[in-house]
Amino acid sequence: MLLFWVMSLLTLIPAHACPSECLCVIAVGGVPTVHCDRPTLEHIPQGIPNNTMTFQMKGTRLVSVRQGDLSGLPLLRTLYLYDNQVQTIQVGAFDNNPDLEVLAVYNNKISEVSPGVFRGLNSLRELDMRANKITSIPAGVFNGLPSLWVVRLYENTINTMAVGAFSNLSSVEFFNFAANRLTRVVNGTFGSPQGATSLSLHENNISIIEPGALSSFVSLTSLYIYSNRISTLQGVFEGLREVTEVSAIPEFHCISPPALEGRVVRDLATNQLNCSCGAEEIPRIDTGGSTTEVPIGERALLRCKVNACPDAAVLWTAARGLFLTSQSEFPDMYVQADGTLVIPVVTPGDAGRYTCMAVNAFGTAEAGVVLNVTARQPLTTPPTGQAVGIHTTDRFISIFTTVLMFLIAFMK
Ligand SMILES: *[C@@H]1O[C@H](CO)[C@@H](O)[C@H](O)[C@H]1NC(C)=O
Ligand SMILES: *[C@@H]1O[C@H](CO)[C@@H](O)[C@H](O)[C@H]1NC(C)=O
Ligand SMILES: *[C@@H]1O[C@H](CO)[C@@H](O)[C@H](O)[C@H]1NC(C)=O
Ligand SMILES: *[C@@H]1O[C@H](CO)[C@@H](O)[C@H](O)[C@H]1NC(C)=O
Ligand SMILES: *[C@@H]1O[C@H](CO)[C@@H](O)[C@H](O)[C@H]1NC(C)=O
Ligand SMILES: *[C@@H]1O[C@H](CO)[C@@H](O)[C@H](O)[C@H]1NC(C)=O
Repeated sequence: MLLFWVMSLLTLIPAHACPSECLCVIAVGGVPTVHCDRPTLEHIPQGIPNNTMTFQMKGTRLVSVRQGDLSGLPLLRTLYLYDNQVQTIQVGAFDNNPDLEVLAVYNNKISEVSPGVFRGLNSLRELDMRANKITSIPAGVFNGLPSLWVVRLYENTINTMAVGAFSNLSSVEFFNFAANRLTRVVNGTFGSPQGATSLSLHENNISIIEPGALSSFVSLTSLYIYSNRISTLQGVFEGLREVTEVSAIPEFHCISPPALEGRVVRDLATNQLNCSCGAEEIPRIDTGGSTTEVPIGERALLRCKVNACPDAAVLWTAARGLFLTSQSEFPDMYVQADGTLVIPVVTPGDAGRYTCMAVNAFGTAEAGVVLNVTARQPLTTPPTGQAVGIHTTDRFISIFTTVLMFLIAFMK
């Protein structure tokens, strides 16, 4: 019925000018639209009218788009090749289709996108490659696509995106990488300039978005990162001045300042996520005043005085291999609010190297202290225990729940 209606409005091209497997219709203005949807088709049919602007082939056995297959369609604007069995698109396949604006190859079996495959597509606006089997995005694939506006790569199995994979895409507004297997978003993946307002990274396995990795997205307003393994957002918002919506489930709760404690980060306006400390500064650590030699049974104090802006998270690695933060609850040692690791009663097993690590959005610092444990000396007075204050303060909003997990992952 619909077809009848369509055909009564549109003119059917004479049979000899249309491949027998296809339906060629000319819309108002003489622009042909060609559909070749016969399920047994294995290749793009030849003999399609050379002024075709829209070509569709779906639900067929098409396995590859070869160089030359589309060379007879120099005016092609819209190419729908979804719901097929496509595994490869050869470099050069679109060399004669410089006006291509929409390329939809979703729901196929593409596992590789080769650098150069989209070369010369200066008009390409929409690229839809979702629901394929792509495992990695090498550098250079998306270079030189000045009109690209929407990139859909969700529901693939992308594990790595190379440094430079998405450089210089100032016209892209929507990036969607959801439901892939990303574990890390490396600083440099998205080189400048980036114009996107929406970036979807949800439903991956991301444990780290490296500081600076998203800083090219100066216009970003929406960032979707829920359903990952992220346990810190340290540095993620660096340079992102416009973000008004962050979707990060499980939720991130503030632990300071007191006025915001317990609030969910996504409910806060970005101008509340500021810090009022002076100049931004990567952490510096001073371990001066630490106990370096201690008799069995006495107390040891290992200092980790940190200067950083915004305040840094502090993690100690003990000689026994334990990781400790001020929130850790181990019976034999603890970290004070000022960063000092306290071992109230030293045992021989406590001897060895202790490392203090401090992390903020701008970097990481590490410093070690070696603790020597000597034989019990009943007459020695224990070291005094007054705390050296660094006044970890309420100036800074810590936007992570579990520093520990992040740091453990970070150090691997
Ligand atoms: C299509 O083919 C005809 C006949 O060969 C030719 O005259 C015309 O220029 C071609 N059109 C395009 C857009 O290539
Ligand atoms: C970025 O794209 C612009 C416009 O297409 C171009 O002039 C410039 O050379 C490109 N820069 C890089 C680093 O590719
Ligand atoms: C996610 O990453 C962890 C290790 O970081 C790994 O054990 C797990 O298999 C990954 N899950 C998926 C679905 O890739
Ligand atoms: C991210 O990479 C860029 C370019 O290599 C570099 O300039 C910048 O300092 C890096 N940012 C961080 C936070 O490491
Ligand atoms: C930081 O945010 C608080 C609360 O929104 C505001 O009162 C304060 O002026 C802001 N400070 C700076 C330096 O922007
Ligand atoms: C700790 O012991 C090692 C060897 O056991 C020694 O070389 C080092 O000088 C000692 N350090 C201190 C601070 O006593």
